[in-house]
Amino acid sequence: MPDKQIKMEKSYQKLLDNNKNWVQTKLNQNPEYFKILAQGQTPEYLWIGCSDSRVPANEVTGTNPGEMFVHRNIANLVVHNDLNLLSVLAYAVDVLKVKHVIVCGHYGCGGVQAAMSNKQYGLIDNWLRNIKDVYRTHSTELDAIEDENSRFRRFVELNVMEQVKDLGKTTIVQNAWARGQNLHIHGWVYDIADGILHDLGVTFRSAGDLHRVYQFESLPAS
Ligand code: CO
Repeated sequence: MPDKQIKMEKSYQKLLDNNKNWVQTKLNQNPEYFKILAQGQTPEYLWIGCSDSRVPANEVTGTNPGEMFVHRNIANLVVHNDLNLLSVLAYAVDVLKVKHVIVCGHYGCGGVQAAMSNKQYGLIDNWLRNIKDVYRTHSTELDAIEDENSRFRRFVELNVMEQVKDLGKTTIVQNAWARGQNLHIHGWVYDIADGILHDLGVTFRSAGDLHRVYQFESLPAS
């Protein structure tokens, strides 16, 4: 077997070695570290981000294990029939009672870029269709931006803003607001070119800003 192939097959081993070192570092800082974490989690934040390997939720926000509940998918989408996203959201809001949900997109997002193009990418085109719908909703603004990179950056931002709205359209979020739960939804964009997180200033706290067709009546008190 060529040396290169052996090396590639063993590349995963460094992850296990890193883990041993990490455990030791944590235990050196606090011998009770894992014992405390094992008792439960009370994260204040739910992060909905892109799967992109360059946007690690904990690392870019300086949060530690236990501080952030995380859901990631391609292009940080909130798709209303995605059972995975809905389950994460319901658990985070109803059980963990997170105070902030952050949808975080990123400039240079391959998913958003692919959705902007007319190329076929296979099965993923069905996922990217959700982003194409965002383009259509904002086509007047986007088509008016001549510079392709500027249009791409704006599309990333608009995609985040639409996902923020889509969170507000769920009964999970609307019921939490109706029962007076302190729940804020934020839209952020991370710049992989400089590491900076940008708050788009679209904090959402009530369903009142949505078109009335999305506003559910409150459930009767049980
Ligand atoms: Co991405």
